[in-house]
Amino acid sequence: MQKLDTPGVDLASLSADRHRPSYHFLSPDNWMNDPNGLLHWRGRCHLFYQYNPSSPQSEDKHWGHAVSDDLVHWEHLPIALAPDPDGPDTDGVFSGCAVGLHDHVVLMYTGVRGPHQLPCIATNDDPELLAWTKYAGNPVITAPPADLDLVFFRDHTLWQEGDTWYMGIGSGLRGQGGTVLVFRSPDLHDWTYLHPLCIGDLDRTNPLWGGTGWECPDFFAISNDRVLIVSGHDAHPRNVLWFTGGYQDQRLTVHNTGLVDGGPSFYAPQSYTDDAGRRVMFGWMRERRTVAQQVAAGWSGVMTLPRILSVLSDGSLVSAPAPEIAQLRTRHRTAVVDASGLVDIRGDTLELLATFDARATEPAGLSVRTSLDGKEATVVTYTPATQTVTLDTRASSIDPDVSGVASRISIPPAADGSIRLRVFLDRSVIEVFVNDRICISDRIYPVREESDRIRVVGLAALSTLEVWDIGPCFLPSEAGRQSLSVDHPQDHR
Ligand code: FRU
Repeated sequence: MQKLDTPGVDLASLSADRHRPSYHFLSPDNWMNDPNGLLHWRGRCHLFYQYNPSSPQSEDKHWGHAVSDDLVHWEHLPIALAPDPDGPDTDGVFSGCAVGLHDHVVLMYTGVRGPHQLPCIATNDDPELLAWTKYAGNPVITAPPADLDLVFFRDHTLWQEGDTWYMGIGSGLRGQGGTVLVFRSPDLHDWTYLHPLCIGDLDRTNPLWGGTGWECPDFFAISNDRVLIVSGHDAHPRNVLWFTGGYQDQRLTVHNTGLVDGGPSFYAPQSYTDDAGRRVMFGWMRERRTVAQQVAAGWSGVMTLPRILSVLSDGSLVSAPAPEIAQLRTRHRTAVVDASGLVDIRGDTLELLATFDARATEPAGLSVRTSLDGKEATVVTYTPATQTVTLDTRASSIDPDVSGVASRISIPPAADGSIRLRVFLDRSVIEVFVNDRICISDRIYPVREESDRIRVVGLAALSTLEVWDIGPCFLPSEAGRQSLSVDHPQDHR
């Protein structure tokens, strides 16, 4: 990636930035990428994330940290893990996961030192998870399996069977495809290599080609189903895939596979099981503006809203927005639509819920963040003939440096013949959930102040339209603050 000098972050300009989301989690400033170490611990959701505290560019990775009581309001906490000048992570604390044991938490992360990327451990010193001690014996695996020709070896997923721990590490077998390598341990410290959990497919004609290597594996159970999610680092677009199937002896026999999100920005998701037994996922939404624009803005990267995962009887992995998001609604708006389809509501931090009759013949949906002349428009439509949802961001911005794309994902209508689009607009973020089953998301950067209008496409097929204003996920004091001290408000709602 191109690297530029970073002028330093001006917090006032961060909060005035029209593209900076207000109700999606993001770091206080600078660069953020993958969610890490997602964990429900003592009633609170802990979200760690890849963070560069000194620049909005992808370098010098730390673990940032935030906590939420309700999944939607967030409080920044001090940085959890920083590179140690003399340690096995001197060149970066890369992605990993967390497990909560009965009285403490273990973080498993990728320590980077020169060409080496190896698993390391840290444990908490306090119940608030504010202070961490790295294990003196790091790295806990000193080299990848010697007899394998691997494209890389990083990122971790942990699970337990009886008293035995298993760890999956993201990798790729040269010439074969992406893979997740399984290791076994009695105590999270001493690890023995077993075999690949499953191996991808390098056939590029397969639309689910996962690239040559799989990053950020996430392996978990939902009821009796086993699910593997991986991010294909050099697939185009960088697809995030799910696999379900039969599981025996730490091998997954894949029966079904698909895309976790149909959009081009979504990457490196991670999930955890909460106290209610729900599988909750967050993903990183990458920027789609230039590095120079990110540096000028002083920040980069945002998390998706929390999504609840489930597996259907045919083995499909589906996702729906967490019900807690409704707590962010501040005002219900009654929408009036004129004969041209123009809605009398404007805004860039809205939730829209529109239902359409999918038996209509023409594509139907919504054009959002639209200027009156339509020169800027982000269009989400359902095409009944092909049973596809398209999110078209090619005209989202007149800025020539920002590119868009038409992303598509297939979904049949609901049993009653309807298609329900639930659209979350948050400045440069759009997330569209279809029939509470699939999501397609992207980043958008409209230039014109007046590109905040909504137009219905295929008005004849529209059944209902509801709109809510959505409030912020941080207190104003929290939103633009570099939070490295432990002196933080305990309750911000
Ligand atoms: C995925 C990723 C991981 C790595 C981390 C570094 O976005 O490349 O594989 O651990 O980001 O920030």
